[in-house]
Amino acid sequence: DWTPASFVHETVEHLRQQIGSRKVIMALSGGVDSTVAATLIHQAIGDRLYGIFVDNGVLRKNEFQQVLDTYKQLGLNVKGVDAKNLFYTRLAGKVSPEEKRKIIGGLFIEVFEAEAKHIDGIGLLGQGTIYPDVIESVSVHGPSVTIKSHHNVGGLPDRMHLELVEPLRFLFKDEVRKVGLELGIPRELLFRHPFPGPGLAIRILGEVTEDKVRLLQDADAVYTRSLRESGLYDSVWQAGAILLPVKSVGVMGDERTYEFTVALRAVTSVDGMTADWAHLPYDFLAKVSNEIINEVRGINRVVYDISSKPPATIEWE
Ligand code: XMP
Repeated sequence: DWTPASFVHETVEHLRQQIGSRKVIMALSGGVDSTVAATLIHQAIGDRLYGIFVDNGVLRKNEFQQVLDTYKQLGLNVKGVDAKNLFYTRLAGKVSPEEKRKIIGGLFIEVFEAEAKHIDGIGLLGQGTIYPDVIESVSVHGPSVTIKSHHNVGGLPDRMHLELVEPLRFLFKDEVRKVGLELGIPRELLFRHPFPGPGLAIRILGEVTEDKVRLLQDADAVYTRSLRESGLYDSVWQAGAILLPVKSVGVMGDERTYEFTVALRAVTSVDGMTADWAHLPYDFLAKVSNEIINEVRGINRVVYDISSKPPATIEWE
């Protein structure tokens, strides 16, 4: 019978055999899959696993530090790389969603490869591929291509000529979470909402600037905190704030304001392929709207997205 404990035991054994005395490098994202995969590989080979966690400047507020702290607590050998400014520089002036995605994906690979060069004798590349990724890439694009830009490192294995280590290849998401609990990974990380690889860059409509990132990080942090405090976080599949490229007039005291609008998105879904807008209680929306407008200077209007997928998508870009 499959149990998380037996899976961990057998997988660690198998990883030791596959890897032998070689070194493994791996990109960590703060997501469930890469964290669970890395923790398993670490149990097998200890510090011969070299994790790289890149701050691309479009993570959630405080996320880089918090996730890095969690990795340290788990004992992982991870290097945090602050590449924020590089990403902001390359994103300057770019407004097309697909171009922004390409820039972020490409730059990620550059940064990762540069880090890999500093480590002597890397033989393998760790990846958090799970079973649905395997099926999807086989059925849609043939066995060697990963479709989701998601995995950020889609093009890496071929480019780097490294043997793959994919301990989660036969697991579904719920099984990955169970294994994660077995490994002592914090619940909060394991049950987080999905977050796109291009991060807040595709939730800032139009050009991404450092100032806009900060504004959206603040609004998004208030939204996420409120969802957690009101016990609604686990009832939605994904949620986030979107910074719209419009300013509108408001009033504060006896001053007119002219500031940005934030859209709140929350959906229920099974796999993200279809989604319904989450029917969050009016009281909650009223409260979070007040909190965002009061706490985040630069935002004077909050709207709620009531579109389902299809025909809308979950992200706005
Ligand atoms: P859409 O907007 O297509 O999103 O309804 C479906 C799910 O995919 C995520 N998403 C992405 N994830 N890179 C990613 O890693 C991307 O470029 C990307 N675009 C969308 C989105 O957050 C949702 O969970």
